[in-house]
Amino acid sequence: MENIKKIVGIEAAKFVKDGMIVGLGTGSTAAFFVEELGRRVAQENLQITGVTTSSVTSEQAKRLGIALKDIDDVAYIDLTVDGADEVDLDLNGIKGGGAALLMEKIVATYSKDYIWIADDSKMVKHLGAFPLPVEVVTFGSGQVFRLFETLGFNPRLRVDANDVAVVTDMGNYIIDLHMKEIKEPQRLAKLLDETVGVVEHGLFNDMVKTVIVGSADGNVKII
Ligand code: 5RP
Repeated sequence: MENIKKIVGIEAAKFVKDGMIVGLGTGSTAAFFVEELGRRVAQENLQITGVTTSSVTSEQAKRLGIALKDIDDVAYIDLTVDGADEVDLDLNGIKGGGAALLMEKIVATYSKDYIWIADDSKMVKHLGAFPLPVEVVTFGSGQVFRLFETLGFNPRLRVDANDVAVVTDMGNYIIDLHMKEIKEPQRLAKLLDETVGVVEHGLFNDMVKTVIVGSADGNVKII
């Protein structure tokens, strides 16, 4: 599995050219992309500026010597490469397994080009087997949780190994919706967008145009 992630990470890095402002995704797959960019910066004198999607990725990029800028200090982002938790046939996706969905969605929104990298186990007919992360402000999060229960969304507050609520880089909680199948992602996204207390959700509908998918036999497909 790690090998597939590495292959798609390296493949995605080929889309990065000198002078680009690059959105750096979060997660174990995106980490291989960032690693490859770091290698090219060090060995090939690649000149890029990174805009990161989490504190973890910021730390990795700094370690690798990739120059970084805050999202507000760039006019736009040329290309963002990120991982995904699930991708359906229309290239709608679920993200946020690594709790970075808010920063990831903001960086993606202000990117001219946006690519996902994934192994083929993430490609699904319908979204929803992977629990949908929803980022909520801490104030009133219990009310939002109960609303999700009433709606039959089967919510669970995300906790760490010590059973303490996970707090995102933006200071919010994550409620994961165990819905099993999301038949109408656009409709669910609208409902979540309109729910007071929800900061952002992990449905990334119609955002990506290219997905680089790797399989165990070493094959890479660009969809
Ligand atoms: C983090 C994300 C990740 O991109 C997603 O969870 C995929 O991670 P991985 O590559 O480790 O499977 O959305 O918030």
